[in-house]
Amino acid sequence: TYVVTENCIKCKYQDCVEVCPVDCFYEGDNFLVIHPDECIDCGVCEPECPAEAIIPDTEPNLDNWLEINRKFAEVWPNITRKGDAPADADEWNGKTGKTEMLSE
Ligand code: SF4
Ligand code: F3S
Repeated sequence: TYVVTENCIKCKYQDCVEVCPVDCFYEGDNFLVIHPDECIDCGVCEPECPAEAIIPDTEPNLDNWLEINRKFAEVWPNITRKGDAPADADEWNGKTGKTEMLSE
């Protein structure tokens, strides 16, 4: 599976959802997640993300983010169309310490 990671928080550009062939993105207030059991590993979303927040789970040290994606994919609504990114998305792109700002 591919995993949405920290830099999506407060950026939430949503370019990823438009390209997913199986519509496995789920939307929170300031973050999106991928349902790990629905993702078919096609990889097309990865280069679409302007925040480079989507990473294959073959990369090391992603257990925590995989768990977060799984947890919220079970409770957040599905998203298949790109909405407006936050007005200040570009200001948050690349900032560190965003994990604690994730809205549940
Ligand atoms: Fe969807 Fe493919 Fe991205 Fe998985 S890797 S979330 S199937 S676009
Ligand atoms: Fe987030 Fe990147 Fe998608 S910022 S909403 S993972 S395009």
